[in-house]
Amino acid sequence: MLVLLLAISCGRKENSPAGLKDAFGEDFLVGVALNEGQIRALDSATDSVIRLHFNAAEPENCLKSEAIHPEEDTYDWELADKYVDFCTERGITPYGHVLIWHSQLSPWFAVDENGNDVSPEVLKQRMKEHITTVMTRYKGRIKGWDVVNEAIEDDGSWRQSPFYRILGEEYIPLAFQYAHEADPDCELYYNDYGMHHEGRHRRVLELVGMLKDRGLRIDAVGFQGHMGMDYPDIDIFEKYMREVADMGVGICITEWDMSALPTITSSADVATLAQSLGIAPENMLNPYPDALPEEISAQWNKRVEDFFSMFRRNSDIIRRVNIWGLNDSSSWKSTPRRRDYPLLFNDDLTPKDVVKHFTISE
Ligand code: G3I
Repeated sequence: MLVLLLAISCGRKENSPAGLKDAFGEDFLVGVALNEGQIRALDSATDSVIRLHFNAAEPENCLKSEAIHPEEDTYDWELADKYVDFCTERGITPYGHVLIWHSQLSPWFAVDENGNDVSPEVLKQRMKEHITTVMTRYKGRIKGWDVVNEAIEDDGSWRQSPFYRILGEEYIPLAFQYAHEADPDCELYYNDYGMHHEGRHRRVLELVGMLKDRGLRIDAVGFQGHMGMDYPDIDIFEKYMREVADMGVGICITEWDMSALPTITSSADVATLAQSLGIAPENMLNPYPDALPEEISAQWNKRVEDFFSMFRRNSDIIRRVNIWGLNDSSSWKSTPRRRDYPLLFNDDLTPKDVVKHFTISE
């Protein structure tokens, strides 16, 4: 009966199955990063799952400068147009990822014909032209953009990107200024990963304050939310989200996924870790090549449930939770050499237990 009431309150037809977007309908938008095959709707079963569960989306790659602006005088709109049309046709709100980022950056963007850094004036002109052209094309259709992505290191220092090397930290307010001039009604975000690192957190607070002090529009900060079984600490994540929100901005969880594999850092003692997990050291790179052990799967589902319950508790500041991929096999984290299980749907598109927890028990 409760599912029925929820369905009616969310405007769903009676007896239609509840998706994640219905379960969290009162809390925040639920989005998914779409890859090329999904944007081209090559598989009807995939399309059905996207339609049922999501009311927002981000493009995994097709709006990055290397894809959409491959040469200074050449734009390739084909897949990006399909992405926005795909969302519009399904009543899904499209978001833009990403205008200024050091990775997947068009190779020409920050260098001259000899491969040397361009001058500050040339880089500013190129940033303005890129931002203005891309945002103008999707004005009124893409609701919000990751304007700048991953400008800050774990310790809070500025990333030594070409943008920083040539313009210093000024490239960030400039990007937000150009974006607002291009589309005054569009939401603008700063996006980063590892937001549980104190150094990055402090610098993000400073950055939001600086942008606001200059009267520049910033609507929200994107906490990418790439996580694992032993990071981040959920209480720190929540505390830092709220401290950022106290600066007068919203929060978007923009790229959520949770690795189910043992975290191996460069300094990790792999042999000791392997022994503690009962895994042969030689298998530590790819510990679960065929399937996740039941016990690990149960731990993963519980930890995901804890995070999404925490997101729900903070729905006063969280505007959107975007999952960085639909099913495990479409995740950037899972490769043939290191199979991972970081997303909400299995390879065969069946929902994981935590999805059932939120959609059936409602
Ligand atoms: O498009 C080429 C294709 O022509 C070529 O045949 C193929 C094989 O080499 O590579 C294709 O490019 C790949 C691209 O994804 C598009 O599929 C790149 O190799 C691959 O490195 C790239 O990975 C993306 C990664 O960003 C790059 O850093 C992932 O799909 C994407 O999920 C990931 O997403 C980033 C966010 O944008 C920012 N936050 C971190 C997140 C994870 O890295």
